[in-house]
Parts: sequence; structure tokens; C-alpha cells
Amino acid sequence: MTRIPPHRPGVPNPLHTLTLDQLRRRTSMKWRTHPADVLPLWVAEMDVPLAPAVVRAVTGAMELGDTGYPAGTGYAEALADFAGKRWGWNDLAVERTAIVPDVMLGVVEMLKLVTEPGDAVVVNPPVYPPFYQFVTHLDRRVVEAPLGPDLRLDLAALEEAFRRAVSGGGRAAYLLCSPHNPTGTVHTAGELAAVAALAERHGVRVVADEIHAPVVTGDTRFTPYLAVPGAERGLALMSASKGWNLAGLKAALALAGPGAADDLARMPEEVSHGPSHVGVLAHTAALRDGTDWLDAVLAGLDENRRLLTGLLAEHLPGVVHRAGEATYLAWLDCRALGLGDDPAQVFLDRGRVALSSGIPFGSGGAGHVRLNLATSPEVITEAVHRMRAALDRGRAPRHTPGTGA
Ligand SMILES: Cc1ncc(COP(=O)(O)O)c(C=O)c1O
Repeated sequence: MTRIPPHRPGVPNPLHTLTLDQLRRRTSMKWRTHPADVLPLWVAEMDVPLAPAVVRAVTGAMELGDTGYPAGTGYAEALADFAGKRWGWNDLAVERTAIVPDVMLGVVEMLKLVTEPGDAVVVNPPVYPPFYQFVTHLDRRVVEAPLGPDLRLDLAALEEAFRRAVSGGGRAAYLLCSPHNPTGTVHTAGELAAVAALAERHGVRVVADEIHAPVVTGDTRFTPYLAVPGAERGLALMSASKGWNLAGLKAALALAGPGAADDLARMPEEVSHGPSHVGVLAHTAALRDGTDWLDAVLAGLDENRRLLTGLLAEHLPGVVHRAGEATYLAWLDCRALGLGDDPAQVFLDRGRVALSSGIPFGSGGAGHVRLNLATSPEVITEAVHRMRAALDRGRAPRHTPGTGA
């Protein structure tokens, strides 16, 4: 697997480009959920202008009126090329891919292919909350296999969960988050091969959500699940959505290992009508021509991660932060601050800074918050100052009537 090339000087850091005034004009969820005095570092949107390659693709489509239905395999071909160059994975089989509306709807379709209503889906909390919501909405039941204290996969817990998942005689799937949201953990090739072996032993089908795969830092190697030995019956979802901030340009890809080709072939053709054609064009351009821009973002995120570590040590030393190697999210253990199960609510109420509450991330999420690092150093600095102020406000001595205190 190849290393990410160093960031080429000359591509300006996209995280330094936009002012708060510009960002506040945005109408997306990050900027419109809270009032204007709240600094938003919650939902996974990045505070960046679009990669020039994406702008060219989208404006080109607008000029041409090229806004019909998606066609062809250009997205998969661009991903195959990217995967070869980036991860040294040269076996991505374009014929075993399908476009899907987005990653979570792709997950739903993959789960429908390999499980029935009432069957179990194993997840590793703390994990991206929609894993719970979509699985239960699909009438499957969630079985938890928590990450270990080192925030890595706990193979013993996973095996135990697989046993429980199949114990009733039904089918079962494992929804793997790789890299892991919210911890930023990048699973090693060895861990993934062990997962594949366990899954085969217990008859559990693996569906790997690899949406954060392009957002892996520096020297860390990302290993696609379908690239590991034993993963032939696996299914995976990939997308340019997180790496290039394209959530509003809906598109993603479902991928099948050779032993899952028949499963993917059972997905109704109509599902591929769901992604936006303009989204497919944007994602394709990002993967094909947007790697310099992505490297500039990754370099900026490394800086932001170091900045956050320093700021926390200085202003909030009670917060435990084990910086991950992927995603632009920081998972902060705030249990020592004495702010209860939902510190995000306290930071919002008293500090006017919006972070994601850890509670919906499942077991192990209480007392934690998730902070979005894909912003400018100034915003991160201001956010930590606001968190500190929220803490101080909670500690300020209260006026007790009659004592004059
Ligand atoms: C692990 C994970 N999966 C899926 C998604 C959502 O992707 P999409 O909008 O393509 O459904 C996110 C968004 O942050 C995510 O972190």
C-alpha cells in the first residue's frame, strides 16, 4: 500500500480560505441548525471552498444542461484509479460496483441483500449514530461490540457479538466503520483479515462503510476491506463525499468482493436511479483530478489536530483526546470535567459552541463530545476558549441569599 504523497506547496490550505462571515451565509445543516451566536463544530461538513476540479465539473454540467439521469461507470473507474494510486489496491473490479444515492442508503441496500427483518447487525460503539437509526428503521436489531479502551477493534468482543448475532438461527451482518467515526481509528490490514476470518467462521456478512477512506493522515496506511485475504464475500461502500465535502451532491458506490457478486446483482436496478447525475460527475472529478486539493486539506487537518492537542492541554487539561489517524473528527472524553453525561449540551448552553453529543454514538458515548476539525485554526481556537468559558461559568460561585456571597 502506498503512502500519501506530501502536500505540494502551491495549493493553498483550503481550511484557511473562508471567513466566518462567508461561512455564515451557507444554508446547510451545520450553519442553520443553531442561532448565529453559536460557533458550529458538529455535523461532518467542512469549512472549505470546493476543489477546483469539482467546480469545473459542476459548472460544466450546468452550462451544458447536463442534468439528466446518471449513466456509465465513470465514478467506479475514477475510484479504481484512485485506489490503485492511493492505497496500492489494484483489484477494484468495476464490474462489481453499483452507484447508490449515498453511503447510508447504500448501507441499507447492502443490509437488505444479506439479512432479513429481525436479523442482527453488529456495530462497534461508539459509532456514527445513523448506524443505529438506519438499522432499526430497517427492522434489523443492533448488537453492540464496543471498541476496546485503546479505541481499536476488540476482536474478542466482536466474536462474542457474532455468536449472539447468529444464536437465534437468523442471518447476521457486521456494519464495519473503516476508518472509524468518531475515533478516527484506521484498522490495520491484520485487524481486517482477522475480522474477515471471524465473520466467515460465524457466517456473518461484512458491510464496510469506507466513506472516510480518503481522509487518512500522513504515513498511515488505509487498507480497503475488500483487499484483505478472506474478505471475498464482503460488501463495501465508498464515496468522495467526506474527502471533498460533497454531501449536498448525492452519490456513492457499492462494491462487492468476488463472493458477493451475486448478492450485489440482486440489488434492484432502480436504486441506481437515486444518485444525482451532477453528484456522480462531481465525485468522479474529485477522485480523478482533486488529489492535490485533498492533500492540502489533509495537511491542514494535521495542523489542526496538533493545534487542538495544544489548546486542550493549555485550557482543558481534564479532557482526554487520543488523536486518530483519519477523519476530521476529534473524540473528546470529557468525563473528568464533571459536566454529566451530555457535556455537549453544557458547552452549547453556557459556551455557545455546538459539538456533537456522544450519547447517540451508543455504549461508551456518554460524557464524550465529537468536535469537527475541518475548519480554520481561528475557529478551533475560539471553540476551545468557549468550552473553557462554559466550564468556568459552571464553576463560578453562586450567590447565596442572605450571606452576601
Ligand atoms: C461513517 C459515515 N457513514 C456515512 C456518512 C453519511 O454519508 P452519506 O451522506 O453519503 O450517506 C457519514 C457522514 O458523516 C459517516 O461519517
